[in-house]
Amino acid sequence: YSDFFPLVDGALQAEGVPLQQIAETVGTPAYIYSRAAIESAWNSYAKPLADIPHLVCFAVKSNSNLGVLNVLAELGAGFDIVSVGELERVLAAGGNAGKVVFSGVGKQDHEMRRALEAGVFCFNIESIPELDRLQAIAADMGVTARISLRVNPNVDAQTHPYISTGLKDNKFGIDIERAEEIYQRADSLPNIEVTGVDCHIGSQLTSLDPFLDALDILLALVDKLAAQGIVLSHLDLGGGLGVTYKDEQPPETDEYIRAVHERIGSRNLTLVFEPGRSIVANAGVLLTRVELLKHTEHKNFAIIDGAMNDLIRPALYGSWHDILPVVPRSGEELAYDIVGPVCETSDFLGKGRDLCLKDGDLLAVMSAGAYGMVMASNFNTRGRAAEVLVSGQTADIVRRRETIADQLSLESLPGENPCF
Ligand code: LLP
Repeated sequence: YSDFFPLVDGALQAEGVPLQQIAETVGTPAYIYSRAAIESAWNSYAKPLADIPHLVCFAVKSNSNLGVLNVLAELGAGFDIVSVGELERVLAAGGNAGKVVFSGVGKQDHEMRRALEAGVFCFNIESIPELDRLQAIAADMGVTARISLRVNPNVDAQTHPYISTGLKDNKFGIDIERAEEIYQRADSLPNIEVTGVDCHIGSQLTSLDPFLDALDILLALVDKLAAQGIVLSHLDLGGGLGVTYKDEQPPETDEYIRAVHERIGSRNLTLVFEPGRSIVANAGVLLTRVELLKHTEHKNFAIIDGAMNDLIRPALYGSWHDILPVVPRSGEELAYDIVGPVCETSDFLGKGRDLCLKDGDLLAVMSAGAYGMVMASNFNTRGRAAEVLVSGQTADIVRRRETIADQLSLESLPGENPCF
């Protein structure tokens, strides 16, 4: 239970709205987001950066719901995108293209075109072929593309290998050893304006050291380039700041920002960050209902209506999410595996959780605001969950539940839709 998901009169709420009430109206499973929690996390960046030239670009991949993006756009956020789809979401949510950084290793021609047309702040470039492709498209359009090179500083983020991105053998970024030479090449291209440097070393980092090690490497490069007349105006440290799911103790945002600012010293650099998780993870829960309890000789299972297709993090990374009863009961607790109806042994949201449960109880899977709904699938032809944004006493459906008709509508029988 937290400030934004408090227990009031024995029942869990999102801000001022009882979760039971939302379950009755929109059904389950459903993702519930708290506007105040998003605002508070946003302010944890905005406040310490207030007197420093900066741009905070919310990583849209972590939660791309239009309602959530709109909350952030109203706060003046920038956005970090990795596809033209994410760009269209940002624009539809009222975001400012001039505050968008375009990341990703595989930007396609049409995506570059659309981003240039919209006027994004910067393309974060990850390879020479990508740089050359952007030059060609910008030339064709008669415009200039602002770029940063995503360098790979080869530091160990000390996080889960699947979400660690700053090591030599990752597909991401440009080898730090080759960065100088590629900057020179970029600087010579007529439709490219070199404006920055960026890195992203991994996600869910719980210590500052890897960030600061990476920063030192980037700053050494910035100074070297300046000496050659390539003067950068921004430095983007990516996302990656961790959150508390269970008992992790990540650094506070202001401690992080202070440490970064200190090392920048007198350099004239706008600081850019691309946080995703640290803005939205603890601003969302997955609300789900216990369908039935199954007791076997070895285990107690609570079979719920949410599943791995709704929240894949436990199955994919072995991630921990707290699972709280919406209306806690008093009585004997049993150790339950909280599992969904999907036909996979990895379909669990938690294992061995001590709970006192009855059929039909509501559960809240906590810290599900980041990399939850965005990674949902239709596995087992399950419709994707509804999403609700709570603001104080009000709740808005910001995505309706997907129906079976929605899913079938994209498909056709052989002969119905011949391609040639
Ligand atoms: N910038 C870039 C270039 C990124 O690749 C990412 C995340 C971010 C920013 C945002 O990082 P954050 O602040 O959220 O850590 N699905 C995984 C996380 C994958 C992160 C991928 N990149 C999970 O559920 O843990």
